[in-house]
Amino acid sequence: MKLLANSSQIITVNTDGKNCKRGNELANIGMLTEHAIVIENDVIKDLIPNSSIKNPSRYDIIDVQDKVILPGLVECHTHAAFAGSRANEFKLRLQGKSYEDIAKSGGGIISTVSAVRNSSLNELVKLLIPRVKYFISQGITTIEIKSGYGLDLENEIKLLEAIKKLKSLFTIDIIPTFLGAHTYPPEFKDNYKGYLDLIAQKMLPQIAEKKLARFCDAFCERTAFSSKDVEVIFTKAEELGFHLRLHSEQFHNIGGLELALTHEAVSVDHLEVMTDKQIFKLAAFDIVAVLLPGVSFFLNYEFAPARKLIDNNAIVALSTDYNPGSSHISNLNLIMSIAAIKMEMTIEEIISSVTINAAKAVLMNHEVGSIEIGKKADFAVFNAQDYSEIIYTIGKNLNTMTIKNGRIIYQADEF
Ligand code: NIG
Ligand code: FE
Repeated sequence: MKLLANSSQIITVNTDGKNCKRGNELANIGMLTEHAIVIENDVIKDLIPNSSIKNPSRYDIIDVQDKVILPGLVECHTHAAFAGSRANEFKLRLQGKSYEDIAKSGGGIISTVSAVRNSSLNELVKLLIPRVKYFISQGITTIEIKSGYGLDLENEIKLLEAIKKLKSLFTIDIIPTFLGAHTYPPEFKDNYKGYLDLIAQKMLPQIAEKKLARFCDAFCERTAFSSKDVEVIFTKAEELGFHLRLHSEQFHNIGGLELALTHEAVSVDHLEVMTDKQIFKLAAFDIVAVLLPGVSFFLNYEFAPARKLIDNNAIVALSTDYNPGSSHISNLNLIMSIAAIKMEMTIEEIISSVTINAAKAVLMNHEVGSIEIGKKADFAVFNAQDYSEIIYTIGKNLNTMTIKNGRIIYQADEF
């Protein structure tokens, strides 16, 4: 048996077994002091007061030296599987060109697609390894990674195979999502139906058969897929047993959210331009609103209505959306601080949004996302006296130890 001992605070994100936080529940993060965590067989066995530890030699002790323990963080929305760089587009944007204009003139997602098609499976894996390591160094123990830069059968499968390879290299939970409906590839620019058929008849069935993805995602946007197009994809994906997520209401309101609700999607992501009416609608469903403030910051446009969503009882999660074009940010700590300052979320709400609610967005909330008995022994140990310092210290990683399934998988040089 192991004992995680000598913390300044343990932030349990306790849910009383509900495994999710809605509305004002996000503010309740269950802080314990003078307690230790008992770990047995990779899972959390108990949370005990220090005063009750009569025989410490029974345990294999992990001494966290007066630091703050959080549940292992969950990064629930990334496009980390990409090749190439879009720094040139960043330069153009600084000169006043918009993200959508760049996409319309053949840049954007399509330029990353070319880079991915020109990379081998091994090259992609090599690119991904340091990215995953960086996430782990931040205390992240569960991560979702999407395909979406292959946009043909061979290359979408290559991306998902690269993600699968990572699962054999790391012990953290890696959740693969198929995003073949990211945008229409150039070879189908005059034949949208042809691409929808390819997704529905070839990609989805083969990916399901090879068990390469748990989720099917799509980008519902004027420059990408209409809600009617997404309907075709979702209908087939459901039939094959995929769980659904949707990029929706990012730039234009074209019916994505309503479609996601009809299909009982697990999450709707982005929501920068959602209306008040849609906030009330969403809040009545068991669906996670995944907010990605790094995109609003990176592209310099409006932020999603986090405050209104929480005040109206929605389930809110946060993520980096790490990708080369709209959020070249893989620092979840920075995202948390942006959420505090630009979306008026409280520190406690932010912590719930990167733990239990992010876990729900990838359907891992019964196993991870809070420090509750029976859950995986996944922890992030922050060099702080109080949890608020984690978010107050903007852009700097205060995580000094990452524990997955009860084992230390990362420790900072200066612990
Ligand atoms: O989540 N919205 C669509 N997809 C990504 C951007 C991808 C890219 O620009 O490469 C996003 O913002
Ligand atoms: Fe995204």
